Amino acid sequence: MLRQLPNYPDENFLSAAIPSADAGVYRIAADLALVQSVDFFTPIVDDPYLFGRIAAANALSDLYAMGARPLTALNLIGFPKCLDRSLLVEILRGGADACHDAGATIVGGHTVEDDEPKYGLAVTGLVNPAHLISTVGAQPGDQLILTKPLGTGILATALKGEILTATDISAAIAGMNTLNRAAAEAMLTIGVHACTDITGFGLLGHALELALASNVGLTLDGAALPVYPQVREMAAIGMIPAGGYNNRDYYLGKVIDADRIAPDILDIISDPQTSGGLLIAVAPEKAAPLCAELTARETGCWGIGAVTNAEPGRLLIKMT
Ligand code: CO
Repeated sequence: MLRQLPNYPDENFLSAAIPSADAGVYRIAADLALVQSVDFFTPIVDDPYLFGRIAAANALSDLYAMGARPLTALNLIGFPKCLDRSLLVEILRGGADACHDAGATIVGGHTVEDDEPKYGLAVTGLVNPAHLISTVGAQPGDQLILTKPLGTGILATALKGEILTATDISAAIAGMNTLNRAAAEAMLTIGVHACTDITGFGLLGHALELALASNVGLTLDGAALPVYPQVREMAAIGMIPAGGYNNRDYYLGKVIDADRIAPDILDIISDPQTSGGLLIAVAPEKAAPLCAELTARETGCWGIGAVTNAEPGRLLIKMT
């Protein structure tokens, strides 16, 4: 659809040259660019404060994926007339606290009446364009590091279906609630080739977008993929969100020997994530130092595969 729109070139619109950029990047000085993104959605957990925090962590994630420092945010709110306004206060309090943790200031927002609550933020960060990290730049031989486990879409579906409680999925809630700030700081300290964050397209889609943007092949190790507790059990009884099937339909055609992927691995890689981790392509000799930096910041570090020069723009899932 976007391709049908007019293209008005602007030499300062730096992310126009980055396929599947996580955020818009706009140069405002030789050594400074704005990095902007926006996301909002319906409640993923019942606790309004936690929902607000998770929505903010999710919106800020695109800035962290590009190595930017969050600066300001605007609240985007849809709220029904019939609901108690104290709920909205709690949602906004969660967003405010998460932005505070990110060092970003909420400078405004907008509310519309809506049939169901929706919350998210438009976020703005800063980056020196020379230090920008993006989907472009992964090199054959790089190791692929993931900083959070997978399966939040499956668990949220089970929560909605009242198969699991919020307590059952507390590890996933804590993960979604965690800013990618520490992960980004570790990545910037070490220096990496490429990065994206795992959100709605799942590991499958975001890994493929990175492969296409960097014009490399990716091999993922099916046995190495980290998942939150109960994810496999819930997937096995059909707790698959609609987005998981959309991701398969859209991306599986670019996967090598897709019919050889075990069903549980397919459920996991196609699962849409909320506030997922960073997927980082790092030179092999820097993989261990990166993991040390991540671990020192109490951030997860899973080596899940490698960048290859075979079949650029395609993905191979290694099954053992
Ligand atoms: Co993103």
